[in-house]
Amino acid sequence: MCGIFGYVGDRNASQILMQGLKDLEYRGYDSWGIAIANNGTINVIKRKGEISKAEDLCLEGRIGIAHTRWATHGVPSDINAHPHISYDGALAIVHNGIITNFEALRERLLKEEYKFSSDTDSEVLVNLIHSKMNDVGLLEATQAALTEVEGSYAIAVLSANHDYVVLAKKESPFLIGVGNDEMFFASDIMPMLDYTKKVITLHDGDTAVLTQNSFEVFNSDSKVTRSATSVPWSKKEAELGNFAHYMQKEIHEQERTIQEALRQPAETLEAICSSLKNAERIFITAEGTSLNAGMVFDLLLSEKGYMTKCLRASELRHHKNQITQDSVVVAVSQSGETADLISALKDIKEKNPKVVSILNRVGSHVEQLSDHVIYIKAGPEIGVASTKAYTGQIAVMYLLAGNLNGSLDETRSLLLSTAEKVHNILAESESEISRIVEELKGQRDFYFIGKGINHATALEAALKLKEISYIHAEGFAGGELKHGPLALIEKGVPVVVIAPKDSTYQDIISNAHEAKTRGAAIIGVSSETHTLFDYFVKIPENHSTIYPITSVVPLQYLAYKMAVALGKNPDKPRNLAKSVTVK
Ligand code: AGP
Repeated sequence: MCGIFGYVGDRNASQILMQGLKDLEYRGYDSWGIAIANNGTINVIKRKGEISKAEDLCLEGRIGIAHTRWATHGVPSDINAHPHISYDGALAIVHNGIITNFEALRERLLKEEYKFSSDTDSEVLVNLIHSKMNDVGLLEATQAALTEVEGSYAIAVLSANHDYVVLAKKESPFLIGVGNDEMFFASDIMPMLDYTKKVITLHDGDTAVLTQNSFEVFNSDSKVTRSATSVPWSKKEAELGNFAHYMQKEIHEQERTIQEALRQPAETLEAICSSLKNAERIFITAEGTSLNAGMVFDLLLSEKGYMTKCLRASELRHHKNQITQDSVVVAVSQSGETADLISALKDIKEKNPKVVSILNRVGSHVEQLSDHVIYIKAGPEIGVASTKAYTGQIAVMYLLAGNLNGSLDETRSLLLSTAEKVHNILAESESEISRIVEELKGQRDFYFIGKGINHATALEAALKLKEISYIHAEGFAGGELKHGPLALIEKGVPVVVIAPKDSTYQDIISNAHEAKTRGAAIIGVSSETHTLFDYFVKIPENHSTIYPITSVVPLQYLAYKMAVALGKNPDKPRNLAKSVTVK
């Protein structure tokens, strides 16, 4: 997704902005740029390609905007990179989001003699704002222009002739960072962590004016107050350390992050459990890895007799008529900025359910749409493939389920015991995982099967492998194989069998038999090996651990090692972004 970063203060803006763009790289991008206002002119440098290849830039000026672009309208190119400037160079804009009616606006501006150099919706927007500047200030012109715009945006508008920046937000995330006699603004907290932890989250419909030592926020033509939150993260937590990739680091961090997830205020657990207990129905909704975690919660609650349903956020609207004011909707999200999830929560608002969110990032849009929030406290997750957030989500879900049936302390100690085993699981499975990677890295397809709560693990492990190694991988419920997917199995096709010694063991072993007799290469994930297994990834016995955590950890690592062996960058997989802020 695109990333925005900006600065208003006394220091050299270009150096601050260039460092900030490097902190936004993890979001995925294909071009970048900066614009600095200085003595009545705006200087712009923008390029297709990676920032790390950029020479050290140093432009004069203490107010600027910067952007990493993830192409939506217009191919990746120097011309289509942001910032975009108005045809006369008086204004510059950076934009995250999509303006859906930009062609019509462009046609109208062309008739007013405006000229365009790019294919982007963002260049239309900056010229539309310019066209509203007659006799009014930049804020009013921006507000007037946005009344004609359809779509989503987080924008920062810089003027050659003003010592302030105008911001606006609708559906795309946007934060203000309050420094000491300097101001920052960004799409997410990462580039601001070096300077401040005091953060204001803009709401949909907000416009703001930022000077070096002040900010004002407006919504629906009146001034509003937006309180600051203190972000509990440090830049150090986001450093790579001695690891080769963030994904490798974050897999190894899980021993600590699961322990962090267990540190929850009793009142938070009580408030959420009280909502769940009184719910007529519980709808769990998310996307991607968070949806797979939601499946675990679905099983945990339905095992306790709760009426639950786990639905992909982008599909939730089709089930809206099942939701009532007596329902609870559990939104699960690492970023809290997934557009499909935000859109789903807005869609169902008319049904007035209680919304409980399980989040990692503080100050997100999903947080604003929630009645209760519980944070997994995993710290910044930089790798696009979610790992520590997944096990943090599961840990919080087990904690809530334990609290619901009065076994909170027992559940917490089970989770602590599980966390302590992560290191050994990785150490003991390292050589077998290396063997699997070496012998199977040429395979075109991988299949993962699991039953009951291990079905979620099968789906999550498949998602990990496909999204960073680009090998086709699918997860199935074990019982599904013979109803079709078994036709895909032929000699040598790898089938990962998630076979903890729980109530599903005998059934999943017979599913493995079905695959084996068709020639599959069986990779068993279990506490003991089996004659069926061609490869054996050992996990601890059930009585002291939580299987959805212990069985996914080695499979996260399998995906990571496979991607590296195939020469892929596990932190920045092609076509993907860390937070999908567009629908
Ligand atoms: C998972 O590895 C992917 N990065 C992706 O599926 C992700 O889980 C999904 O986009 C949801 O993101 P969220 O948790 O921030 O809402």
